[in-house]
Amino acid sequence: MTTSLEALASEFGRDGSLWFAESPLGGTVAELAASGGARATVALKGAQVLSYIPAGGREVLWLSPLARLDGAKPARGGIPVCWPWFGAHPEGGDRPAHGFARTAHWMVVATSASADAVSIQLALGPDTPKHGLDGLECPLAASVEVRLGADLAVSLTTRNLGSQPARLTSALHTYFAVADIAEARVEGLGLTSYIDQLDAGRIKTCEGAIVFAGELDRIYQDATGEVMLVDKAGGRSIAVDKSGSRSTVVWNPGPAKAARLGDLGQEGYRQMVCIEPANAGADVVELSPGGMHTLATRISTLPR
Ligand code: BG6
Repeated sequence: MTTSLEALASEFGRDGSLWFAESPLGGTVAELAASGGARATVALKGAQVLSYIPAGGREVLWLSPLARLDGAKPARGGIPVCWPWFGAHPEGGDRPAHGFARTAHWMVVATSASADAVSIQLALGPDTPKHGLDGLECPLAASVEVRLGADLAVSLTTRNLGSQPARLTSALHTYFAVADIAEARVEGLGLTSYIDQLDAGRIKTCEGAIVFAGELDRIYQDATGEVMLVDKAGGRSIAVDKSGSRSTVVWNPGPAKAARLGDLGQEGYRQMVCIEPANAGADVVELSPGGMHTLATRISTLPR
Protein backbone atom coordinates (compact mmCIF):
# COMPACT_ATOMS: atom_id res chain seq x y z
CA MET A 1 0.00 0.00 0.00
CA THR A 2 1.36 3.41 -1.01
CA THR A 3 1.17 5.74 1.98
CA SER A 4 4.28 7.95 2.34
CA LEU A 5 3.93 11.48 1.01
CA GLU A 6 6.90 10.96 -1.32
CA ALA A 7 5.48 7.74 -2.75
CA LEU A 8 2.03 9.27 -3.17
CA ALA A 9 3.54 12.31 -4.88
CA SER A 10 5.60 10.28 -7.31
CA GLU A 11 2.83 7.82 -8.20
CA PHE A 12 -0.24 10.08 -8.12
CA GLY A 13 0.86 13.74 -7.96
CA ARG A 14 -0.12 16.05 -10.85
CA ASP A 15 2.05 19.13 -11.27
CA GLY A 16 0.26 22.16 -9.86
CA SER A 17 -3.11 20.35 -9.94
CA LEU A 18 -2.95 17.64 -7.29
CA TRP A 19 -0.52 17.13 -4.42
CA PHE A 20 -0.42 15.42 -1.05
CA ALA A 21 0.19 17.00 2.34
CA GLU A 22 0.08 16.29 6.06
CA SER A 23 -2.98 18.15 7.34
CA PRO A 24 -2.89 20.09 10.65
CA LEU A 25 -5.92 17.91 11.49
CA GLY A 26 -3.55 14.93 11.80
CA GLY A 27 -3.79 12.90 8.59
CA THR A 28 -2.81 12.82 4.94
CA VAL A 29 -4.85 14.86 2.48
CA ALA A 30 -4.90 15.38 -1.27
CA GLU A 31 -5.10 19.01 -2.40
CA LEU A 32 -6.86 19.55 -5.71
CA ALA A 33 -6.52 22.75 -7.76
CA ALA A 34 -8.53 22.99 -10.99
CA SER A 35 -7.17 25.14 -13.79
CA GLY A 36 -10.28 27.36 -13.58
CA GLY A 37 -9.35 28.28 -9.99
CA ALA A 38 -11.50 25.95 -7.84
CA ARG A 39 -9.86 24.17 -4.87
CA ALA A 40 -10.73 21.07 -2.84
CA THR A 41 -9.18 19.01 -0.07
CA VAL A 42 -9.79 15.26 0.33
CA ALA A 43 -8.66 13.23 3.37
CA LEU A 44 -7.39 9.71 2.75
CA LYS A 45 -9.07 8.73 6.01
CA GLY A 46 -12.69 8.11 5.08
CA ALA A 47 -12.23 9.40 1.49
CA GLN A 48 -13.76 12.50 3.04
CA VAL A 49 -13.91 15.79 1.16
CA LEU A 50 -13.03 18.44 3.75
CA SER A 51 -13.13 21.61 1.67
CA TYR A 52 -14.52 22.89 -1.61
CA ILE A 53 -13.90 26.47 -2.74
CA PRO A 54 -15.30 27.29 -6.18
CA ALA A 55 -13.35 29.61 -8.49
CA GLY A 56 -13.69 33.18 -7.23
CA GLY A 57 -15.95 32.01 -4.40
CA ARG A 58 -15.76 31.05 -0.75
CA GLU A 59 -15.92 27.78 1.21
CA VAL A 60 -19.03 25.72 0.45
CA LEU A 61 -18.57 22.96 3.03
CA TRP A 62 -18.71 23.30 6.79
CA LEU A 63 -15.95 21.73 8.87
CA SER A 64 -16.04 21.83 12.64
CA PRO A 65 -13.22 23.76 14.34
CA LEU A 66 -12.87 20.58 16.46
CA ALA A 67 -12.56 18.20 13.48
CA ARG A 68 -9.61 15.77 13.65
CA LEU A 69 -8.38 13.08 11.31
CA ASP A 70 -6.35 11.22 13.91
CA GLY A 71 -9.13 10.30 16.33
CA ALA A 72 -11.37 7.24 16.56
CA LYS A 73 -14.38 9.36 15.56
CA PRO A 74 -14.97 10.66 12.04
CA ALA A 75 -14.09 14.30 11.41
CA ARG A 76 -17.27 16.37 11.86
CA GLY A 77 -17.98 18.17 8.59
CA GLY A 78 -17.11 18.03 4.91
CA ILE A 79 -18.55 14.98 3.15
CA PRO A 80 -18.27 11.82 5.28
CA VAL A 81 -19.08 8.64 3.35
CA CYS A 82 -21.73 6.54 5.10
CA TRP A 83 -21.28 2.95 3.88
CA PRO A 84 -22.30 0.08 3.78
CA TRP A 85 -25.14 1.15 6.01
CA PHE A 86 -26.76 4.46 6.86
CA GLY A 87 -27.66 5.35 10.45
CA ALA A 88 -27.69 2.75 13.20
CA HIS A 89 -26.97 -0.83 12.14
CA PRO A 90 -30.24 -2.83 12.23
CA GLU A 91 -28.63 -5.37 14.57
CA GLY A 92 -27.17 -2.68 16.84
CA GLY A 93 -24.30 -3.96 18.96
CA ASP A 94 -20.94 -2.30 18.58
CA ARG A 95 -21.37 -1.65 14.87
CA PRO A 96 -20.69 2.03 14.28
CA ALA A 97 -23.45 4.41 13.16
CA HIS A 98 -23.25 5.15 9.42
CA GLY A 99 -20.96 2.16 8.72
CA PHE A 100 -17.22 1.75 8.91
CA ALA A 101 -16.10 3.51 5.70
CA ARG A 102 -15.91 6.98 7.20
CA THR A 103 -13.21 6.03 9.69
CA ALA A 104 -11.33 3.56 7.47
CA HIS A 105 -8.12 4.23 5.60
CA TRP A 106 -8.71 4.51 1.84
CA MET A 107 -6.05 3.93 -0.79
CA VAL A 108 -5.42 6.27 -3.69
CA VAL A 109 -5.90 4.24 -6.88
CA ALA A 110 -5.87 6.88 -9.64
CA THR A 111 -5.67 10.61 -10.34
CA SER A 112 -6.11 12.68 -13.48
CA ALA A 113 -5.78 16.32 -14.52
CA SER A 114 -6.94 18.05 -17.68
CA ALA A 115 -7.89 21.58 -18.71
CA ASP A 116 -11.44 20.89 -17.51
CA ALA A 117 -11.01 19.04 -14.22
CA VAL A 118 -8.77 17.34 -11.72
CA SER A 119 -9.85 14.12 -10.06
CA ILE A 120 -8.83 11.52 -7.51
CA GLN A 121 -10.14 8.01 -7.03
CA LEU A 122 -9.86 6.11 -3.75
CA ALA A 123 -10.73 2.56 -2.73
CA LEU A 124 -11.27 1.04 0.68
CA GLY A 125 -8.11 -0.50 2.10
CA PRO A 126 -7.82 -4.24 2.75
CA ASP A 127 -7.74 -3.79 6.53
CA THR A 128 -11.37 -2.64 6.87
CA PRO A 129 -14.02 -4.65 8.77
CA LYS A 130 -15.96 -7.11 6.69
CA HIS A 131 -19.49 -6.99 8.13
CA GLY A 132 -22.27 -5.46 6.06
CA LEU A 133 -25.87 -4.27 6.39
CA ASP A 134 -27.10 -7.87 6.44
CA GLY A 135 -24.87 -8.65 9.43
CA LEU A 136 -22.97 -11.18 7.33
CA GLU A 137 -19.50 -11.00 5.90
CA CYS A 138 -19.57 -8.08 3.49
CA PRO A 139 -18.76 -9.00 -0.11
CA LEU A 140 -18.94 -5.37 -1.23
CA ALA A 141 -16.09 -3.21 -2.49
CA ALA A 142 -16.30 0.58 -2.51
CA SER A 143 -14.56 3.32 -4.43
CA VAL A 144 -14.98 7.10 -4.32
CA GLU A 145 -14.19 9.57 -7.06
CA VAL A 146 -13.89 13.30 -6.40
CA ARG A 147 -13.86 15.45 -9.52
CA LEU A 148 -13.21 19.17 -9.32
CA GLY A 149 -13.91 21.39 -12.32
CA ALA A 150 -16.46 24.17 -12.73
CA ASP A 151 -18.28 22.41 -9.86
CA LEU A 152 -17.63 19.52 -7.47
CA ALA A 153 -18.76 15.99 -8.30
CA VAL A 154 -18.42 13.11 -5.83
CA SER A 155 -19.42 9.52 -6.57
CA LEU A 156 -19.46 6.39 -4.44
CA THR A 157 -19.43 3.14 -6.40
CA THR A 158 -20.20 -0.24 -4.83
CA ARG A 159 -19.49 -3.59 -6.44
CA ASN A 160 -20.70 -6.96 -5.23
CA LEU A 161 -17.67 -9.26 -5.46
CA GLY A 162 -19.47 -12.15 -3.75
CA SER A 163 -21.52 -15.04 -5.05
CA GLN A 164 -24.72 -14.07 -3.19
CA PRO A 165 -26.96 -11.01 -3.50
CA ALA A 166 -26.09 -8.29 -0.99
CA ARG A 167 -27.86 -5.17 0.30
CA LEU A 168 -26.56 -1.79 1.33
CA THR A 169 -27.60 1.68 2.40
CA SER A 170 -25.33 4.71 2.13
CA ALA A 171 -25.05 8.50 2.01
CA LEU A 172 -22.78 11.30 0.92
CA HIS A 173 -23.35 13.10 4.22
CA THR A 174 -22.66 16.64 3.00
CA TYR A 175 -22.25 19.42 5.57
CA PHE A 176 -22.93 22.78 3.87
CA ALA A 177 -21.76 26.05 5.36
CA VAL A 178 -24.45 28.69 5.92
CA ALA A 179 -24.07 32.17 7.41
CA ASP A 180 -27.10 31.68 9.70
CA ILE A 181 -29.27 28.55 9.87
CA ALA A 182 -32.24 30.66 11.03
CA GLU A 183 -32.29 32.37 7.64
CA ALA A 184 -31.50 29.34 5.50
CA ARG A 185 -34.03 27.26 3.61
CA VAL A 186 -34.01 24.12 1.48
CA GLU A 187 -36.14 24.12 -1.65
CA GLY A 188 -37.20 21.23 -3.85
CA LEU A 189 -38.65 18.77 -1.32
CA GLY A 190 -42.08 20.32 -0.74
CA LEU A 191 -44.89 17.73 -0.71
CA THR A 192 -42.33 14.90 -0.77
CA SER A 193 -43.05 12.45 2.04
CA TYR A 194 -40.40 12.03 4.70
CA ILE A 195 -39.55 9.80 7.63
CA ASP A 196 -39.42 12.02 10.71
CA GLN A 197 -36.50 10.63 12.70
CA LEU A 198 -37.50 12.83 15.64
CA ASP A 199 -41.06 11.46 15.80
CA ALA A 200 -40.73 7.67 15.94
CA GLY A 201 -40.20 7.42 12.18
CA ARG A 202 -43.68 8.72 11.32
CA ILE A 203 -44.26 9.49 7.64
CA LYS A 204 -45.15 13.13 7.02
CA THR A 205 -45.24 15.74 4.30
CA CYS A 206 -45.02 19.50 4.39
CA GLU A 207 -45.56 22.17 1.82
CA GLY A 208 -42.99 24.64 0.63
CA ALA A 209 -39.38 25.09 1.64
CA ILE A 210 -37.77 23.51 4.70
CA VAL A 211 -36.83 26.07 7.35
CA PHE A 212 -34.92 25.47 10.58
CA ALA A 213 -36.33 26.43 13.95
CA GLY A 214 -34.56 23.76 16.02
CA GLU A 215 -33.43 20.15 15.56
CA LEU A 216 -34.57 18.63 12.27
CA ASP A 217 -33.79 15.09 11.07
CA ARG A 218 -35.68 13.80 8.03
CA ILE A 219 -35.25 11.12 5.39
CA TYR A 220 -37.12 12.29 2.31
CA GLN A 221 -38.42 9.35 0.31
CA ASP A 222 -38.85 9.06 -3.45
CA ALA A 223 -36.71 12.17 -3.66
CA THR A 224 -34.73 11.92 -6.87
CA GLY A 225 -34.42 15.57 -7.91
CA GLU A 226 -32.12 18.51 -7.36
CA VAL A 227 -32.38 20.41 -4.09
CA MET A 228 -31.50 24.07 -3.60
CA LEU A 229 -30.01 25.39 -0.37
CA VAL A 230 -30.74 29.11 -0.08
CA ASP A 231 -28.25 30.72 2.30
CA LYS A 232 -30.03 34.04 2.59
CA ALA A 233 -27.71 35.61 5.17
CA GLY A 234 -24.69 34.47 3.14
CA GLY A 235 -26.09 35.83 -0.14
CA ARG A 236 -25.76 32.66 -2.16
CA SER A 237 -27.54 29.46 -3.16
CA ILE A 238 -26.08 26.00 -3.52
CA ALA A 239 -27.55 23.47 -5.95
CA VAL A 240 -27.27 19.83 -4.90
CA ASP A 241 -27.92 17.47 -7.77
CA LYS A 242 -27.60 13.70 -7.52
CA SER A 243 -28.08 10.31 -9.16
CA GLY A 244 -28.39 6.70 -7.98
CA SER A 245 -30.46 7.88 -5.03
CA ARG A 246 -34.15 7.84 -4.13
CA SER A 247 -33.74 9.42 -0.70
CA THR A 248 -32.37 12.72 0.58
CA VAL A 249 -31.57 13.29 4.24
CA VAL A 250 -31.85 16.78 5.71
CA TRP A 251 -30.32 17.28 9.16
CA ASN A 252 -29.47 20.02 11.61
CA PRO A 253 -28.88 19.01 15.23
CA GLY A 254 -30.17 22.20 16.86
CA PRO A 255 -28.56 23.46 20.08
CA ALA A 256 -29.32 20.58 22.49
CA LYS A 257 -28.14 17.72 20.25
CA ALA A 258 -25.13 19.76 19.14
CA ALA A 259 -24.14 20.11 22.80
CA ARG A 260 -24.60 16.33 23.30
CA LEU A 261 -22.49 15.51 20.26
CA GLY A 262 -19.77 17.77 21.60
CA ASP A 263 -17.66 18.07 18.43
CA LEU A 264 -19.43 20.86 16.55
CA GLY A 265 -17.77 23.73 18.34
CA GLN A 266 -19.60 26.59 19.98
CA GLU A 267 -22.73 27.50 18.00
CA GLY A 268 -21.49 25.29 15.13
CA TYR A 269 -25.03 24.09 14.47
CA ARG A 270 -25.94 27.64 13.39
CA GLN A 271 -23.41 27.56 10.57
CA MET A 272 -24.21 24.23 8.94
CA VAL A 273 -26.91 22.13 7.39
CA CYS A 274 -26.61 18.60 6.05
CA ILE A 275 -28.23 17.70 2.76
CA GLU A 276 -27.34 14.09 2.06
CA PRO A 277 -27.92 12.31 -1.24
CA ALA A 278 -28.61 8.82 0.10
CA ASN A 279 -29.91 5.32 -0.17
CA ALA A 280 -31.67 5.29 3.19
CA GLY A 281 -34.97 4.31 4.80
CA ALA A 282 -36.85 2.08 2.38
CA ASP A 283 -34.33 2.98 -0.34
CA VAL A 284 -32.15 -0.10 0.12
CA VAL A 285 -29.92 -1.08 -2.80
CA GLU A 286 -29.85 -4.78 -3.67
CA LEU A 287 -26.88 -5.93 -5.69
CA SER A 288 -26.74 -9.29 -7.41
CA PRO A 289 -23.35 -11.01 -7.71
CA GLY A 290 -21.20 -8.88 -10.03
CA GLY A 291 -23.68 -5.98 -9.69
CA MET A 292 -22.63 -2.36 -9.35
CA HIS A 293 -24.28 0.78 -7.98
CA THR A 294 -23.15 4.42 -8.03
CA LEU A 295 -24.47 7.11 -5.69
CA ALA A 296 -23.33 10.50 -6.96
CA THR A 297 -23.72 14.18 -6.20
CA ARG A 298 -22.86 17.40 -7.98
CA ILE A 299 -22.56 20.64 -6.03
CA SER A 300 -22.62 24.07 -7.65
CA THR A 301 -23.02 27.58 -6.31
CA LEU A 302 -25.07 30.50 -7.61
CA PRO A 303 -25.33 34.07 -6.28
CA ARG A 304 -28.70 34.97 -4.74
C1 BG6 B 1 -27.68 12.21 10.02
C2 BG6 B 1 -28.75 11.45 10.74
O1 BG6 B 1 -27.54 11.70 8.73
O2 BG6 B 1 -26.44 12.07 10.69
C3 BG6 B 1 -28.83 11.91 12.19
O3 BG6 B 1 -30.00 11.62 10.07
C4 BG6 B 1 -27.46 11.83 12.85
O4 BG6 B 1 -29.78 11.12 12.88
C5 BG6 B 1 -26.46 12.59 12.00
O5 BG6 B 1 -27.54 12.36 14.16
C6 BG6 B 1 -25.04 12.60 12.55
O6 BG6 B 1 -24.59 11.32 12.79
P1 BG6 B 1 -23.15 11.09 13.44
O7 BG6 B 1 -23.03 9.61 13.64
O8 BG6 B 1 -22.14 11.61 12.45
O9 BG6 B 1 -23.13 11.88 14.73
